[in-house]
Amino acid sequence: MAGKIELMETVLRDAHQCLLATRMRTEDMLPIAEKLDQVGYWSLETWGGATFDACLRYIKECPWERLRKLRAAMPKTRFQMLVRGQNVVGYRNYPDDIVQAFVERAAANGIDVFRVFDAMNDLRNMKTAIDAGLKAGKIVEGAVCYTVSPVHSPDYFLRVAEKLAETGVQIICLKDMGGLLAPYAAYEIIKKIKSRIPLPLHLHSHCTAGLSPMNYMMAIEAGADILDTAIAPLSQGSSQPATEQMVAALMGTPHDTGLDLGKLGEIAEYFYQVRRKYAEFESPVNNQIKADVLVSQVPGGMLSNLVAQLRQQNAEDKLEAVLAEMPSVRKDLGYPPLVTPASQICGSQAALNVMTGKRYSVVAQETRNFVMGLYGEPPGPISDEMKKKVLGKKEPITCRPADLLQPGLEVARKEIGGLAASEEDVISYALFPEIAKEYFLSRDGRTERQ
Ligand code: CO
Repeated sequence: MAGKIELMETVLRDAHQCLLATRMRTEDMLPIAEKLDQVGYWSLETWGGATFDACLRYIKECPWERLRKLRAAMPKTRFQMLVRGQNVVGYRNYPDDIVQAFVERAAANGIDVFRVFDAMNDLRNMKTAIDAGLKAGKIVEGAVCYTVSPVHSPDYFLRVAEKLAETGVQIICLKDMGGLLAPYAAYEIIKKIKSRIPLPLHLHSHCTAGLSPMNYMMAIEAGADILDTAIAPLSQGSSQPATEQMVAALMGTPHDTGLDLGKLGEIAEYFYQVRRKYAEFESPVNNQIKADVLVSQVPGGMLSNLVAQLRQQNAEDKLEAVLAEMPSVRKDLGYPPLVTPASQICGSQAALNVMTGKRYSVVAQETRNFVMGLYGEPPGPISDEMKKKVLGKKEPITCRPADLLQPGLEVARKEIGGLAASEEDVISYALFPEIAKEYFLSRDGRTERQ
Protein backbone atom coordinates (compact mmCIF):
# COMPACT_ATOMS: atom_id res chain seq x y z
CA MET A 1 0.00 0.00 0.00
CA ALA A 2 1.37 3.40 0.97
CA GLY A 3 5.12 3.92 0.68
CA LYS A 4 7.31 6.48 2.34
CA ILE A 5 5.78 8.28 5.31
CA GLU A 6 6.34 12.02 5.47
CA LEU A 7 6.48 14.08 8.67
CA MET A 8 5.43 17.56 9.63
CA GLU A 9 7.45 18.91 12.59
CA THR A 10 5.32 20.90 15.06
CA VAL A 11 7.97 22.19 17.50
CA LEU A 12 7.63 25.82 16.37
CA ARG A 13 3.82 25.89 16.69
CA ASP A 14 1.59 23.22 18.17
CA ALA A 15 4.19 21.60 20.46
CA HIS A 16 4.95 24.77 22.42
CA GLN A 17 1.33 25.89 22.16
CA CYS A 18 0.42 22.72 24.06
CA LEU A 19 3.32 22.42 26.48
CA LEU A 20 4.52 26.00 27.07
CA ALA A 21 1.32 28.06 26.67
CA THR A 22 2.50 29.29 23.22
CA ARG A 23 5.25 31.39 24.76
CA MET A 24 8.31 30.36 22.73
CA ARG A 25 10.06 33.41 21.32
CA THR A 26 11.53 33.84 17.86
CA GLU A 27 14.98 34.33 19.42
CA ASP A 28 14.77 30.72 20.64
CA MET A 29 13.79 29.43 17.20
CA LEU A 30 16.36 31.12 15.00
CA PRO A 31 19.55 29.54 16.43
CA ILE A 32 18.31 26.07 15.39
CA ALA A 33 16.70 27.10 12.10
CA GLU A 34 19.55 26.05 9.86
CA LYS A 35 19.58 22.56 11.33
CA LEU A 36 15.79 22.24 11.08
CA ASP A 37 16.02 23.25 7.44
CA GLN A 38 18.46 20.40 6.74
CA VAL A 39 16.28 17.58 8.12
CA GLY A 40 13.99 17.01 5.14
CA TYR A 41 10.58 17.29 6.83
CA TRP A 42 7.58 17.31 4.51
CA SER A 43 6.74 20.58 6.23
CA LEU A 44 7.53 22.59 9.32
CA GLU A 45 4.61 24.09 11.19
CA THR A 46 5.72 27.63 11.91
CA TRP A 47 2.66 29.80 12.25
CA GLY A 48 -1.03 30.10 12.99
CA GLY A 49 -3.19 28.63 15.70
CA ALA A 50 -2.64 30.59 18.89
CA THR A 51 0.86 31.80 17.98
CA PHE A 52 -0.35 34.97 16.24
CA ASP A 53 -2.37 36.11 19.23
CA ALA A 54 0.31 35.04 21.74
CA CYS A 55 3.01 36.99 19.86
CA LEU A 56 1.09 40.26 20.11
CA ARG A 57 -0.56 39.71 23.48
CA TYR A 58 2.06 38.06 25.66
CA ILE A 59 5.50 38.24 24.17
CA LYS A 60 5.20 41.54 22.29
CA GLU A 61 6.52 40.31 18.98
CA CYS A 62 5.20 41.04 15.52
CA PRO A 63 3.95 37.67 14.22
CA TRP A 64 4.64 38.71 10.60
CA GLU A 65 8.19 39.63 11.49
CA ARG A 66 8.61 36.17 13.05
CA LEU A 67 7.38 34.54 9.86
CA ARG A 68 9.75 36.57 7.68
CA LYS A 69 12.74 35.86 9.94
CA LEU A 70 12.01 32.13 9.99
CA ARG A 71 11.49 32.12 6.22
CA ALA A 72 14.82 33.84 5.62
CA ALA A 73 16.55 31.37 7.94
CA MET A 74 14.90 28.28 6.41
CA PRO A 75 14.68 28.70 2.66
CA LYS A 76 14.36 24.99 1.85
CA THR A 77 11.54 23.59 3.96
CA ARG A 78 7.81 23.99 3.30
CA PHE A 79 6.16 26.19 5.92
CA GLN A 80 2.75 25.14 7.14
CA MET A 81 0.22 27.06 9.19
CA LEU A 82 -3.12 26.40 10.88
CA VAL A 83 -6.06 28.61 9.90
CA ARG A 84 -9.29 28.51 11.91
CA GLY A 85 -11.47 29.02 8.82
CA GLN A 86 -13.49 32.22 9.09
CA ASN A 87 -11.97 32.75 12.57
CA VAL A 88 -8.53 33.05 10.87
CA VAL A 89 -6.22 33.07 13.92
CA GLY A 90 -8.76 34.59 16.28
CA TYR A 91 -11.83 33.56 18.20
CA ARG A 92 -14.73 34.96 16.18
CA ASN A 93 -15.81 35.20 12.57
CA TYR A 94 -14.17 37.90 10.49
CA PRO A 95 -15.57 39.33 7.26
CA ASP A 96 -14.39 37.77 4.00
CA ASP A 97 -12.14 40.68 3.00
CA ILE A 98 -10.07 40.27 6.18
CA VAL A 99 -9.83 36.49 5.73
CA GLN A 100 -8.71 36.95 2.13
CA ALA A 101 -6.17 39.67 2.91
CA PHE A 102 -4.74 37.59 5.76
CA VAL A 103 -4.25 34.46 3.63
CA GLU A 104 -2.81 36.47 0.73
CA ARG A 105 -0.25 38.21 3.01
CA ALA A 106 0.58 34.97 4.84
CA ALA A 107 1.34 33.36 1.48
CA ALA A 108 3.42 36.35 0.39
CA ASN A 109 5.41 36.27 3.65
CA GLY A 110 6.30 32.60 3.35
CA ILE A 111 3.49 30.13 4.08
CA ASP A 112 3.37 27.22 1.62
CA VAL A 113 0.67 25.03 3.15
CA PHE A 114 -2.58 26.22 4.73
CA ARG A 115 -4.42 23.76 6.95
CA VAL A 116 -7.96 25.09 7.20
CA PHE A 117 -10.43 23.82 9.77
CA ASP A 118 -13.71 24.79 11.35
CA ALA A 119 -14.62 23.68 14.83
CA MET A 120 -18.02 22.53 13.61
CA ASN A 121 -16.86 21.03 10.29
CA ASP A 122 -19.22 23.61 8.75
CA LEU A 123 -17.77 24.11 5.27
CA ARG A 124 -19.46 27.49 4.95
CA ASN A 125 -16.95 28.69 7.54
CA MET A 126 -13.98 27.24 5.63
CA LYS A 127 -14.68 28.12 2.01
CA THR A 128 -13.31 31.68 1.95
CA ALA A 129 -9.97 30.68 3.49
CA ILE A 130 -9.66 27.59 1.26
CA ASP A 131 -10.37 29.62 -1.88
CA ALA A 132 -7.89 32.31 -0.83
CA GLY A 133 -5.13 29.73 -0.28
CA LEU A 134 -5.77 28.13 -3.65
CA LYS A 135 -5.90 31.52 -5.36
CA ALA A 136 -2.47 32.33 -3.87
CA GLY A 137 -1.19 29.18 -5.61
CA LYS A 138 -0.46 27.38 -2.34
CA ILE A 139 -1.23 23.92 -0.97
CA VAL A 140 -4.44 23.77 1.03
CA GLU A 141 -5.31 21.01 3.47
CA GLY A 142 -8.96 20.66 4.29
CA ALA A 143 -9.21 19.45 7.87
CA VAL A 144 -11.86 17.13 9.25
CA CYS A 145 -12.11 17.78 12.98
CA TYR A 146 -12.31 14.51 14.84
CA THR A 147 -14.34 14.10 17.95
CA VAL A 148 -16.35 11.46 19.77
CA SER A 149 -20.08 11.91 20.26
CA PRO A 150 -23.34 10.14 19.48
CA VAL A 151 -23.54 12.12 16.21
CA HIS A 152 -19.94 11.54 14.98
CA SER A 153 -19.67 8.27 13.01
CA PRO A 154 -17.05 7.13 10.46
CA ASP A 155 -19.58 7.93 7.72
CA TYR A 156 -20.02 11.43 9.12
CA PHE A 157 -16.24 12.03 8.82
CA LEU A 158 -16.22 10.58 5.30
CA ARG A 159 -19.03 12.95 4.27
CA VAL A 160 -17.07 15.95 5.58
CA ALA A 161 -13.94 14.76 3.73
CA GLU A 162 -15.90 14.28 0.49
CA LYS A 163 -17.32 17.79 0.70
CA LEU A 164 -13.82 19.14 1.34
CA ALA A 165 -12.41 17.29 -1.65
CA GLU A 166 -15.00 19.02 -3.83
CA THR A 167 -13.62 22.44 -2.82
CA GLY A 168 -10.33 21.69 -4.59
CA VAL A 169 -8.09 21.15 -1.54
CA GLN A 170 -5.01 19.05 -2.38
CA ILE A 171 -4.79 17.20 0.94
CA ILE A 172 -7.28 15.88 3.48
CA CYS A 173 -6.25 16.25 7.11
CA LEU A 174 -7.80 14.24 9.90
CA LYS A 175 -7.38 16.56 12.87
CA ASP A 176 -7.50 14.92 16.27
CA MET A 177 -6.95 18.12 18.21
CA GLY A 178 -8.13 16.64 21.49
CA GLY A 179 -6.15 13.41 21.46
CA LEU A 180 -9.40 11.44 21.45
CA LEU A 181 -8.67 9.28 18.45
CA ALA A 182 -8.07 5.61 19.20
CA PRO A 183 -6.10 3.22 16.98
CA TYR A 184 -8.93 1.16 15.50
CA ALA A 185 -11.11 4.21 14.93
CA ALA A 186 -8.18 5.82 13.11
CA TYR A 187 -7.84 2.74 10.94
CA GLU A 188 -11.52 2.60 10.08
CA ILE A 189 -11.92 6.28 9.26
CA ILE A 190 -8.71 6.61 7.26
CA LYS A 191 -9.34 3.40 5.35
CA LYS A 192 -12.78 4.73 4.46
CA ILE A 193 -11.51 8.13 3.36
CA LYS A 194 -8.58 6.69 1.39
CA SER A 195 -10.81 4.22 -0.43
CA ARG A 196 -13.11 7.00 -1.64
CA ILE A 197 -10.90 10.08 -2.04
CA PRO A 198 -7.72 10.02 -4.15
CA LEU A 199 -5.87 12.66 -2.10
CA PRO A 200 -2.97 12.37 0.36
CA LEU A 201 -4.11 12.01 3.96
CA HIS A 202 -2.38 13.96 6.73
CA LEU A 203 -3.03 12.88 10.33
CA HIS A 204 -2.76 15.24 13.29
CA SER A 205 -3.05 13.81 16.80
CA HIS A 206 -2.16 14.63 20.41
CA CYS A 207 -0.66 12.24 22.98
CA THR A 208 -2.89 13.51 25.80
CA ALA A 209 -4.49 10.11 26.44
CA GLY A 210 -1.37 8.24 25.32
CA LEU A 211 -2.96 6.87 22.16
CA SER A 212 -1.44 8.76 19.27
CA PRO A 213 1.72 6.68 18.62
CA MET A 214 -0.59 3.68 18.22
CA ASN A 215 -2.93 5.75 16.06
CA TYR A 216 -0.04 6.61 13.79
CA MET A 217 0.89 2.97 13.24
CA MET A 218 -2.71 2.04 12.44
CA ALA A 219 -3.06 5.11 10.22
CA ILE A 220 -0.03 4.00 8.23
CA GLU A 221 -1.59 0.57 7.78
CA ALA A 222 -4.77 2.28 6.58
CA GLY A 223 -2.86 4.33 3.99
CA ALA A 224 -2.08 7.67 5.68
CA ASP A 225 0.67 9.66 3.96
CA ILE A 226 1.82 12.42 6.34
CA LEU A 227 1.99 12.48 10.16
CA ASP A 228 2.51 15.31 12.64
CA THR A 229 5.31 14.85 15.16
CA ALA A 230 7.36 17.00 17.55
CA ILE A 231 11.05 16.74 18.38
CA ALA A 232 11.39 14.61 21.56
CA PRO A 233 11.92 17.33 24.21
CA LEU A 234 8.64 19.00 23.17
CA SER A 235 6.71 15.83 22.41
CA GLN A 236 4.28 13.61 24.35
CA GLY A 237 1.91 14.88 27.02
CA SER A 238 -0.62 17.12 25.31
CA SER A 239 1.78 17.53 22.35
CA GLN A 240 2.47 15.17 19.41
CA PRO A 241 4.37 11.85 19.35
CA ALA A 242 8.13 12.29 19.09
CA THR A 243 9.61 12.71 15.64
CA GLU A 244 12.48 10.39 16.60
CA GLN A 245 10.01 7.74 17.75
CA MET A 246 8.25 7.58 14.37
CA VAL A 247 11.51 7.75 12.43
CA ALA A 248 12.86 4.82 14.46
CA ALA A 249 9.64 2.82 14.24
CA LEU A 250 9.59 2.98 10.44
CA MET A 251 13.30 2.61 9.75
CA GLY A 252 14.16 -0.11 7.25
CA THR A 253 10.51 -0.66 6.31
CA PRO A 254 8.70 0.37 3.10
CA HIS A 255 7.44 3.36 5.13
CA ASP A 256 10.94 4.61 6.08
CA THR A 257 10.82 8.40 6.52
CA GLY A 258 14.40 8.75 5.32
CA LEU A 259 15.11 11.20 8.15
CA ASP A 260 18.40 11.00 10.01
CA LEU A 261 18.31 10.31 13.77
CA GLY A 262 21.73 11.91 14.18
CA LYS A 263 20.52 15.25 12.86
CA LEU A 264 17.37 15.01 14.96
CA GLY A 265 19.53 14.31 18.02
CA GLU A 266 21.32 17.64 17.62
CA ILE A 267 18.00 19.44 17.35
CA ALA A 268 16.67 17.59 20.40
CA GLU A 269 19.69 18.63 22.44
CA TYR A 270 18.95 22.25 21.61
CA PHE A 271 15.28 22.06 22.56
CA TYR A 272 16.00 20.31 25.88
CA GLN A 273 17.74 23.55 26.86
CA VAL A 274 15.01 25.79 25.42
CA ARG A 275 12.23 24.02 27.30
CA ARG A 276 13.96 24.75 30.61
CA LYS A 277 13.79 28.50 29.90
CA TYR A 278 10.00 28.33 29.82
CA ALA A 279 9.53 26.32 33.01
CA GLU A 280 7.10 28.90 34.44
CA PHE A 281 4.61 28.07 31.69
CA GLU A 282 4.70 24.34 32.26
CA SER A 283 1.68 22.66 33.72
CA PRO A 284 2.14 19.45 35.69
CA VAL A 285 -0.89 17.93 33.91
CA ASN A 286 1.03 18.11 30.64
CA ASN A 287 3.57 15.44 31.41
CA GLN A 288 1.40 12.50 32.18
CA ILE A 289 -1.09 10.37 30.35
CA LYS A 290 -4.49 11.87 31.10
CA ALA A 291 -7.05 9.30 30.08
CA ASP A 292 -9.79 11.45 31.59
CA VAL A 293 -9.44 13.61 28.46
CA LEU A 294 -11.51 10.87 26.86
CA VAL A 295 -14.37 12.10 29.06
CA SER A 296 -13.75 15.87 29.21
CA GLN A 297 -12.34 16.05 25.63
CA VAL A 298 -10.28 19.15 26.45
CA PRO A 299 -7.64 19.75 23.75
CA GLY A 300 -3.98 20.25 24.67
CA GLY A 301 -3.76 23.95 23.91
CA MET A 302 -6.82 24.66 25.95
CA LEU A 303 -5.78 22.66 28.99
CA SER A 304 -2.78 24.86 29.71
CA ASN A 305 -4.87 28.01 29.16
CA LEU A 306 -7.65 26.76 31.41
CA VAL A 307 -5.15 25.99 34.17
CA ALA A 308 -3.64 29.49 33.78
CA GLN A 309 -7.11 31.08 33.82
CA LEU A 310 -8.13 29.25 37.00
CA ARG A 311 -4.77 29.96 38.62
CA GLN A 312 -5.36 33.69 38.04
CA GLN A 313 -8.57 33.46 40.04
CA ASN A 314 -6.90 31.33 42.70
CA ALA A 315 -9.23 28.52 41.71
CA GLU A 316 -6.77 25.96 40.35
CA ASP A 317 -8.37 23.42 42.68
CA LYS A 318 -11.57 23.75 40.61
CA LEU A 319 -9.92 22.26 37.52
CA GLU A 320 -11.32 18.78 38.02
CA ALA A 321 -14.82 20.15 38.63
CA VAL A 322 -14.65 22.31 35.48
CA LEU A 323 -13.42 19.35 33.42
CA ALA A 324 -16.25 17.25 34.82
CA GLU A 325 -18.80 19.91 33.85
CA MET A 326 -17.63 20.19 30.22
CA PRO A 327 -19.37 17.09 28.77
CA SER A 328 -22.82 18.27 29.84
CA VAL A 329 -22.24 21.81 28.49
CA ARG A 330 -21.08 20.24 25.26
CA LYS A 331 -24.15 18.03 24.99
CA ASP A 332 -26.38 21.08 25.52
CA LEU A 333 -24.54 22.83 22.65
CA GLY A 334 -25.07 20.00 20.13
CA TYR A 335 -21.75 18.16 20.55
CA PRO A 336 -19.33 20.61 18.91
CA PRO A 337 -15.78 19.20 18.69
CA LEU A 338 -13.80 20.84 21.46
CA VAL A 339 -11.41 22.90 19.38
CA THR A 340 -11.08 26.69 19.20
CA PRO A 341 -13.43 28.49 19.55
CA ALA A 342 -15.93 25.85 20.72
CA SER A 343 -13.42 24.62 23.31
CA GLN A 344 -13.17 28.14 24.79
CA ILE A 345 -16.94 28.56 24.75
CA CYS A 346 -17.57 25.24 26.49
CA GLY A 347 -14.65 25.79 28.89
CA SER A 348 -15.70 29.29 29.95
CA GLN A 349 -19.33 28.25 30.34
CA ALA A 350 -18.33 25.17 32.33
CA ALA A 351 -16.15 27.40 34.55
CA LEU A 352 -19.08 29.80 35.05
CA ASN A 353 -21.35 26.91 35.95
CA VAL A 354 -18.85 25.65 38.52
CA MET A 355 -17.91 29.04 39.98
CA THR A 356 -21.52 30.23 40.36
CA GLY A 357 -22.62 26.83 41.62
CA LYS A 358 -25.76 26.99 39.48
CA ARG A 359 -25.80 25.73 35.90
CA TYR A 360 -26.47 28.56 33.38
CA SER A 361 -27.35 31.10 36.08
CA VAL A 362 -24.81 33.19 34.16
CA VAL A 363 -24.62 32.64 30.39
CA ALA A 364 -21.55 34.04 28.63
CA GLN A 365 -22.08 36.21 25.52
CA GLU A 366 -20.09 33.68 23.45
CA THR A 367 -22.45 30.92 24.57
CA ARG A 368 -25.39 33.09 23.46
CA ASN A 369 -23.80 33.71 20.07
CA PHE A 370 -23.16 30.00 19.65
CA VAL A 371 -26.79 29.14 20.32
CA MET A 372 -27.87 31.88 17.88
CA GLY A 373 -25.92 30.04 15.15
CA LEU A 374 -23.27 32.73 14.77
CA TYR A 375 -20.49 30.12 14.83
CA GLY A 376 -22.17 27.85 12.29
CA GLU A 377 -24.30 24.77 12.50
CA PRO A 378 -23.49 22.41 15.38
CA PRO A 379 -23.24 18.71 14.50
CA GLY A 380 -26.19 17.82 16.75
CA PRO A 381 -29.25 19.60 18.17
CA ILE A 382 -28.92 22.25 20.88
CA SER A 383 -30.79 21.28 24.05
CA ASP A 384 -34.21 22.79 24.72
CA GLU A 385 -33.10 24.06 28.13
CA MET A 386 -30.24 25.95 26.51
CA LYS A 387 -32.40 27.34 23.70
CA LYS A 388 -35.05 28.52 26.12
CA LYS A 389 -32.47 30.13 28.41
CA VAL A 390 -30.65 31.92 25.59
CA LEU A 391 -33.10 32.57 22.77
CA GLY A 392 -36.45 32.97 24.45
CA LYS A 393 -38.74 33.52 21.50
CA LYS A 394 -35.97 34.40 19.00
CA GLU A 395 -34.99 32.07 16.15
CA PRO A 396 -31.36 31.13 15.38
CA ILE A 397 -29.91 32.34 12.07
CA THR A 398 -29.83 29.97 9.08
CA CYS A 399 -27.46 31.79 6.67
CA ARG A 400 -23.66 31.53 6.50
CA PRO A 401 -22.59 33.43 9.65
CA ALA A 402 -20.06 35.62 7.81
CA ASP A 403 -22.82 36.81 5.43
CA LEU A 404 -23.99 38.99 8.30
CA LEU A 405 -20.67 40.85 8.47
CA GLN A 406 -19.73 44.06 6.66
CA PRO A 407 -16.30 44.29 5.02
CA GLY A 408 -13.77 45.33 7.66
CA LEU A 409 -10.36 45.98 6.19
CA GLU A 410 -10.83 49.61 5.11
CA VAL A 411 -12.53 50.46 8.39
CA ALA A 412 -9.54 48.98 10.23
CA ARG A 413 -7.12 50.91 8.01
CA LYS A 414 -8.82 54.22 8.80
CA GLU A 415 -9.05 53.49 12.51
CA ILE A 416 -5.44 52.56 13.06
CA GLY A 417 -4.06 55.23 10.69
CA GLY A 418 -0.38 56.03 11.00
CA LEU A 419 0.22 53.55 13.81
CA ALA A 420 0.20 50.79 11.19
CA ALA A 421 3.54 50.63 9.44
CA SER A 422 2.48 48.07 6.82
CA GLU A 423 -0.45 46.21 5.28
CA GLU A 424 0.39 43.36 7.67
CA ASP A 425 -0.05 45.73 10.62
CA VAL A 426 -3.48 46.71 9.30
CA ILE A 427 -4.43 43.02 9.23
CA SER A 428 -3.09 42.45 12.77
CA TYR A 429 -5.22 45.38 13.90
CA ALA A 430 -8.30 44.11 12.02
CA LEU A 431 -7.92 40.75 13.81
CA PHE A 432 -7.03 41.94 17.32
CA PRO A 433 -7.77 45.68 17.57
CA GLU A 434 -6.88 46.32 21.19
CA ILE A 435 -3.84 44.15 21.62
CA ALA A 436 -2.43 45.08 18.20
CA LYS A 437 -2.75 48.78 18.97
CA GLU A 438 -1.12 48.30 22.35
CA TYR A 439 1.68 46.41 20.63
CA PHE A 440 2.19 49.14 17.99
CA LEU A 441 2.39 51.79 20.69
CA SER A 442 4.93 49.86 22.73
CA ARG A 443 6.91 49.08 19.57
CA ASP A 444 7.08 52.78 18.74
CA GLY A 445 8.07 53.59 22.30
CA ARG A 446 4.85 55.48 22.91
CA THR A 447 2.11 54.98 25.43
CA GLU A 448 -1.55 55.64 24.82
CA ARG A 449 -2.72 59.18 25.60
CA GLN A 450 -5.47 59.18 28.17
CO1 CO B 1 -3.07 20.29 17.52
